[in-house]
Amino acid sequence: MSDDAIQSVLQENRQFPPSEAFSADAHISSDEQYQEMWQRAKDDPDGFWGELARENLDWIEPFDQVSEGDMPDTKWFTGGKLNVTQNCLDRHLDNWRKNKAAIIWEGEPGDTRVLRYQDLHREVCRFANVLKQLGVETGDRVTLYMPMIPELAIAMLACARIGAVHSIIFGGFSADAVAERNNDAQAKLVVTADAGWRRGKELPLKAAVDKSLEKSPSVEKVVVVRRTGYEVEMVPDRDYWWHDLVETASTECEATPLDSEHPLFILYTSGSTGKPKGVLHTTAGYLLGTTMTSRWVFDLKDDDTYWCTADIGWITGHSYIVYGPLANGATTVMYEGAPNWPDEGRFWQIVEKYGVSIFYTAPTAIRAFIKWGDDWPGQADLSSLRLLGTVGEPINPEAWMWYHRVIGGERCPIVDTWWQTETGGIMISPLPGATATKPGSCTRPLPGIVPEIVTKDGQSLGDNQGGLLVMKQPWPSMLRTLYGDHDRFLETYFSEIPGCYFAGDGARRDEDGYYWIMGRVDDVLNVAGHRLSTMEIESALVAHPKVAEAAVVGFPHDLKGEGICCFVTMTVEDDSEELKAELTSHVREQIGAIATPDQIRFAAAVPKTRSGKIMRRLLRDIAAGREQIGDTTTLEDYTVLAKLREEEE
Ligand code: WTA
Repeated sequence: MSDDAIQSVLQENRQFPPSEAFSADAHISSDEQYQEMWQRAKDDPDGFWGELARENLDWIEPFDQVSEGDMPDTKWFTGGKLNVTQNCLDRHLDNWRKNKAAIIWEGEPGDTRVLRYQDLHREVCRFANVLKQLGVETGDRVTLYMPMIPELAIAMLACARIGAVHSIIFGGFSADAVAERNNDAQAKLVVTADAGWRRGKELPLKAAVDKSLEKSPSVEKVVVVRRTGYEVEMVPDRDYWWHDLVETASTECEATPLDSEHPLFILYTSGSTGKPKGVLHTTAGYLLGTTMTSRWVFDLKDDDTYWCTADIGWITGHSYIVYGPLANGATTVMYEGAPNWPDEGRFWQIVEKYGVSIFYTAPTAIRAFIKWGDDWPGQADLSSLRLLGTVGEPINPEAWMWYHRVIGGERCPIVDTWWQTETGGIMISPLPGATATKPGSCTRPLPGIVPEIVTKDGQSLGDNQGGLLVMKQPWPSMLRTLYGDHDRFLETYFSEIPGCYFAGDGARRDEDGYYWIMGRVDDVLNVAGHRLSTMEIESALVAHPKVAEAAVVGFPHDLKGEGICCFVTMTVEDDSEELKAELTSHVREQIGAIATPDQIRFAAAVPKTRSGKIMRRLLRDIAAGREQIGDTTTLEDYTVLAKLREEEE
């Protein structure tokens, strides 16, 4: 593309090209360079990925083959042996980085801890020895149900050091959710904490683990970090304090050489049907994907202070707080608590305090910042920032512009990164030194990623036609299976559009080849950037003795992106506010606080088509207020609307 062509497009589409100064120092510094890399990767994927893997990862034994087998069962870097922690830690110890901060941690109450690469290495070795001593072997599953404290990163890496498979469960999930995941993974050990801090309150975690263990017998041992001092019960010969165990553990632990395809972790995520899906990622492909995308997209340099505000309980934290940044020898900031504690300026105070240069957050957080007002960021010195990122849901152009103006001071590029738990790493995103951004678009695929927009029948669509977003070629960091259920893996991701990976998003591509994500096309809600299955919320509701039937839909929500609206019919004549509150806390109890319903609506009957399908589109319209029922009593009757709709449809 010539400069002229970029210019003329700019005027039409409100584009933001990278500044010359940013491009000059960037890892990928021009559109030509990007185009060339992308084309080379498309034409010769094995050549492209093989070279990256040889140049950027440390191998204990080199691989024989770059890729083997077609999607969905592609294996990567077969014959090779490596260890993720050797790449994230050991290789930084024989140079100046050994004294560089690996993790800068800030607790919610304001306590801090800095772990240099040397320190982190020692702590990881110690805890790896503890795991061994407690009987954890290569391949065993370990559940981590912890607050955002350094011990969480240490425990993850300790698992990886010995080839144990971690399964992290976000601290906002309930005891029942922990039990279900422990059982599915047949976890042998759980690491937790007495409690974590959240808005000045203690969130008890050990108590939830105790409750979960009544229903998950595979767990033999529990390790507990003392974080807040919250009182806990310790069961003899089952429960151990972290600090007691590490005190006597050796700080040396050889990294176990693992096959490229050895499982690294399981992470449970919501699907449209059935229980949560145990997305399984493996060693070499995932490590290569997160290493390269961290460098390309965040343009990570040795003097950066990088902060991703996600919780490690989600994939974003796995890939872009821990594995990707550490593999690059970067300094990663980790914050334990809420963005509005003790006040709404907390994030900006952290940026100022540590001189954060790269800041990665979610649109739902940005919408909250906008609501809290420009004064909060205005009170802090944000001049250290040079790059901003978003992830988790589509960002509305106004929010993008606010982020650009108020946080980025109109000088920082914004990378809107599209990806999923299943993809392991970022798939479609601007490259900050190469891509002219358009507010609201995640722009173009990264090198090695070949997306397409297709119809339900798999026909490719042209520019500006909305369709399903699929991948036609495999990539190293893709999920390998759903833990213990390979058939469900094939069915969920590869059956809808034969020959393609499809995981639920609709999108369109514009005339410049830029992608615009249109959201989920399945029954998965995206609430504050977190995927929740309508089906799981419905099952939680019908588990309540007074609920006969439930239908859950999303509706547009100012802060959360999507809110949760539950239509319920009751077995008893009760439509009281107390019952609403009871159902709300019931869902929280069963799934966790993240699934708290925003609306409970009592319905005379859930509207259905003649063939018996819940009329979700109608319910969505009602929930969004696009469709009104005349004389609303507390018990809403949708049958007339449903009849009208059915005649239309
Ligand atoms: C949505 C989070 C638009 C999308 C990494 C996807 C996005 C789901 C974006 C995955 C983005 C994520 N623009 N939508 N930049 N990033 N999504 O598995 O619907 O928690 O399918 O992974 O979030 O959510 P997950």
